[in-house]
Amino acid sequence: MKYSLISLLLAQSTAAHYVFSHLLVNGTETKEWEYTREIGYGWEGKPYRDSPAFSVDTQDIICGYTAWNTDNSLSGIKPNTADVVAGSEIGFRISKTYGILLPPTNETFLYHEGPAQAYLSRSDNLQAYRGDGDWFKIAALLAKDDTTWQVGGLTVKDANFTIPRATPPGTYLLRFEQFRPGYDVNQTQWFVACAHINVIGSGSSTAPTHFAKFPGTYKPEDEGITISPDFYPQGKKSLLQYKPPGPPVFGA
Ligand SMILES: *[C@@H]1O[C@H](CO)[C@@H](O)[C@H](O)[C@H]1NC(C)=O
Ligand SMILES: *[C@@H]1O[C@H](CO)[C@@H](O)[C@H](O)[C@H]1NC(C)=O
Ligand SMILES: *[C@@H]1O[C@H](CO)[C@@H](O)[C@H](O)[C@H]1NC(C)=O
Ligand SMILES: *[C@@H]1O[C@H](CO)[C@@H](O)[C@H](O)[C@H]1NC(C)=O
Repeated sequence: MKYSLISLLLAQSTAAHYVFSHLLVNGTETKEWEYTREIGYGWEGKPYRDSPAFSVDTQDIICGYTAWNTDNSLSGIKPNTADVVAGSEIGFRISKTYGILLPPTNETFLYHEGPAQAYLSRSDNLQAYRGDGDWFKIAALLAKDDTTWQVGGLTVKDANFTIPRATPPGTYLLRFEQFRPGYDVNQTQWFVACAHINVIGSGSSTAPTHFAKFPGTYKPEDEGITISPDFYPQGKKSLLQYKPPGPPVFGA
């Protein structure tokens, strides 16, 4: 059993992984692509839509592999905008359909443990917004302890975080990234998804001051992207020292 599971994972691991297609709001799983931007099929022409992006320098780093907003090739589903109360918990859950199936139940799972972060970018016209503006970071889900990441593993299907209470009200593109760091440049695997949200709340007088651009801010050689083997996956002995890419978390 153990042997066949490992062979299955090895056989499939080069082909397909997982895709964050459900937004979790108000403690509820919303429908696939209801509030999230649909991720495309692709990767060398293969019929998978759960492929990672490999380079921080491509448009796929904005909202995921061949997402409709970046190459305009997907005319299909345009997401609705979810009303979210500032200060409340939100999350992304992986698709039950697209991804590696884990026997014996054949459920998808979050195959790669690793860092996860979330960003917001303001736009009054989300349906046409590519995500090429300014992004501020609202969450970083890193290590639980020196040997365990918060996100990933055989039984994990989602990543939850809080929309900061101080977030100025308005409509935002919400970008979520979870990634498997690599030891070599362009070997990092990025599982990125975006959702359309409308933040409700009183906000704060302190507007975000630190921003990122995608692509742009992340460099392939950043210490949090192409990393020391101490962090992933063999080492996993000093995860609490891991420094993620990008600006500090707003409202933290
Ligand atoms: C994330 O939140 C959802 C409800 O929105 C909950 O069902 C799930 O257990 C939470 N996941 C984790 C890993 O805490
Ligand atoms: C979440 O709850 C808030 C407050 O009750 C509500 O205004 C909002 O519409 C809900 N969002 C979704 C997507 O159901
Ligand atoms: C899982 O998939 C395998 C191979 O397709 C199949 O033999 C098995 O019955 C499936 N198990 C469940 C619980 O659906
Ligand atoms: C990484 O990927 C980008 C985009 O495909 C490419 O421009 C760059 O040359 C690659 N860098 C290396 C070191 O392979």
